[in-house]
Amino acid sequence: MKLIHVVGTRPNFMKIAPIMRVAYKYESIEQILVHTGQHYDDYMSRWFFEELGITEPNVNLKVGSGTHGEQTGEIMKRFERFLIEEGGDVILVVGDVNSTIACGLVASKLHIPLAHVEAGLRSFDRRMPEEINRLLTDAISDYLFTPAEEANMNLKAEGIPEEKIYLVGDVMIDTLIWEMERTQKLDEPPFEDLKNREYAVLTLHRPSNVDVPETFRGIMKALNTIAEDIEIIFPAHPRTKNRMKEFQIYPENDNIRITDPLSYRDFLKLYKNSIFVLTDSGSIQQETTYLNIPCLTIRENTERPFTISKGTNILVGVGPEKIVVESKKILDGEVKKSKGFPLWDGKSAERIVEILYKDF
Ligand code: UD1
Repeated sequence: MKLIHVVGTRPNFMKIAPIMRVAYKYESIEQILVHTGQHYDDYMSRWFFEELGITEPNVNLKVGSGTHGEQTGEIMKRFERFLIEEGGDVILVVGDVNSTIACGLVASKLHIPLAHVEAGLRSFDRRMPEEINRLLTDAISDYLFTPAEEANMNLKAEGIPEEKIYLVGDVMIDTLIWEMERTQKLDEPPFEDLKNREYAVLTLHRPSNVDVPETFRGIMKALNTIAEDIEIIFPAHPRTKNRMKEFQIYPENDNIRITDPLSYRDFLKLYKNSIFVLTDSGSIQQETTYLNIPCLTIRENTERPFTISKGTNILVGVGPEKIVVESKKILDGEVKKSKGFPLWDGKSAERIVEILYKDF
């Protein structure tokens, strides 16, 4: 079986890694890793491969940044050229980024079976580019590997035939479990001066939060207030850094520390030892739920509602008041506890590879 994996952005690497590591064990599976180049800075891309135990990409399409149309179109052009020459038995795409839908469309039009990992998640907010990417990728996929029962229900409601849907659990949690077994001094933060200190962690990069100056200003106002009570460590995404400069939105409180994006391992050590996390990321909502760390999600909706109903996540919206109120509650000791998820057992990738292997 010739299995072509596609990655493009930082969160894709953590999702593909456990699948590749399992597939390495099968002699008759040939794996090709294609990087679209959607993310290209070393700290958004190159650093992760060795750390996650997978090879450097075999091919880099080097598309870089651009508008949605430019980026998606350019990935399609370059991936199509690659795929016609290289061929493949299955194309495996992960998550919900522009690289996912672009390569999915190419595979589907070349009649090569398409597998989508993390299928069926829905925020029901079609203004988010990721929601469109999810809907369309699922509509054209032949194998839909879902992380939770809710995802199966969403797909069935959209009329996707049941025989295409496989509930396998979460590959992001596979990576988390794998990394926790390997990481030394997991109970120490990655910065010496944070040892034995209480701090919160922040990540922020959604266009709906950082590309709209009024929204971004409101969030920063909330952060300045929270920082009166606790230090906030903020590894900033390049998009966010660009917008800060463009809109001149900077923290006013020295208790907010901006760092470059961290490696997977350092970021794990950072949030694992924090009091709570503020984020607009998708995966961090799950990782904090798995580790029982309180998480406040700075968004109006989430495609992972199970982290709210059964986990440590609270949706706080983007207005400053609720962000501050919920942070204070956590600091006062009012925290949610995670109920656990049966399929978050570190074996999702094994289930995926077995299913594909049997069919090819
Ligand atoms: C993309 C995904 C988003 C995901 C995020 C993870 C889409 C539509 N969005 O958003 O779902 O949560 O990745 O990080 O696919 N830039 C750099 N260096 C890089 C990459 C980006 O400087 O290596 C800057 C560029 O100015 C670029 C901007 O960040 O214009 C945004 O990058 P882009 O790939 O368009 O989307 P993300 O915001 O990273």
